[in-house]
Amino acid sequence: MPAAKGTVQDMLSCCRSPSLRYRRLMTMTHARYDGYADWYDDFNAPFADANAVELADILGPGHGLCLDLGCGTGHNLDAIAATGRNVVGLDFSADQLRIASRRPYPFSRADAARLPFKDQAFRTVVAMWISTDVDDFAAVLRETARVLTPGGTFVFWGVHPCFNGPHIERGDDETRIIHRTYREAGWHTESPWWGHNIRRKVGMRHVPLAQFLNAFIAAGSPRAGGDPGAVRHSDPGHPDLTHNFTEVVPSRWA
Ligand SMILES: C[S@@+](CC[C@H](N)C(=O)[O-])C[C@H]1O[C@@H](n2cnc3c(N)ncnc32)[C@H](O)[C@@H]1O
Repeated sequence: MPAAKGTVQDMLSCCRSPSLRYRRLMTMTHARYDGYADWYDDFNAPFADANAVELADILGPGHGLCLDLGCGTGHNLDAIAATGRNVVGLDFSADQLRIASRRPYPFSRADAARLPFKDQAFRTVVAMWISTDVDDFAAVLRETARVLTPGGTFVFWGVHPCFNGPHIERGDDETRIIHRTYREAGWHTESPWWGHNIRRKVGMRHVPLAQFLNAFIAAGSPRAGGDPGAVRHSDPGHPDLTHNFTEVVPSRWA
């Protein structure tokens, strides 16, 4: 019997299978957080709690399905659900989902670059702290645009690539030295300026600012004459982050 329209089961039943040719072109996705989920859950909890108020403020009250893309251990799900939306968590790491699934929401283990959902399935997509972890950020944004309803909202929240990454040396007086590795896009597993937290464990994909912004543009431009979106800078409040993070609410894709 076909699943009821609008349910997660319904969306999953409509997943597209990539062609063989397309699959050959796809970037390999890694579950780098497998084995670190318990650690990540403890480490991130206070920061997620601190960000929850601002996340609720950005989203505002809403309804309909909301995808938490790269939901990790599920720290942001309650804050999203509290806005009135029906939240669905998705992550590539089974270990992260093991913890996330203690919360009472539907989940999907899948690659954010190949979402198992039909077109225009979600009114809202939230992506928190994933741009430095996904293997193909441009593909993730393309998929986000595909699964959003026309006029839907995408909240992206992540590090600013000019002030965070393997290229940044932080001075005692809060100055920043941007080293030559800024030009080296891609995975970095080592940096002399990293502390002893998350990046030493899972590495970091550095997406330089131009590549980062071009990925948003390539995924679909904002509606002509519509809301161009907003960018906020906030205090990171996070020991791993060497500078402000950026929140981009890039558009209401039409
Ligand atoms: C820094 S964590 C952020 C988790 C959560 N959004 C939060 O704010 O706590 C990055 C997450 O992205 C997930 N991830 C990385 N690549 C992914 C992909 N291709 N598809 C889905 N999730 C992915 C990781 O497994 C990890 O849980």
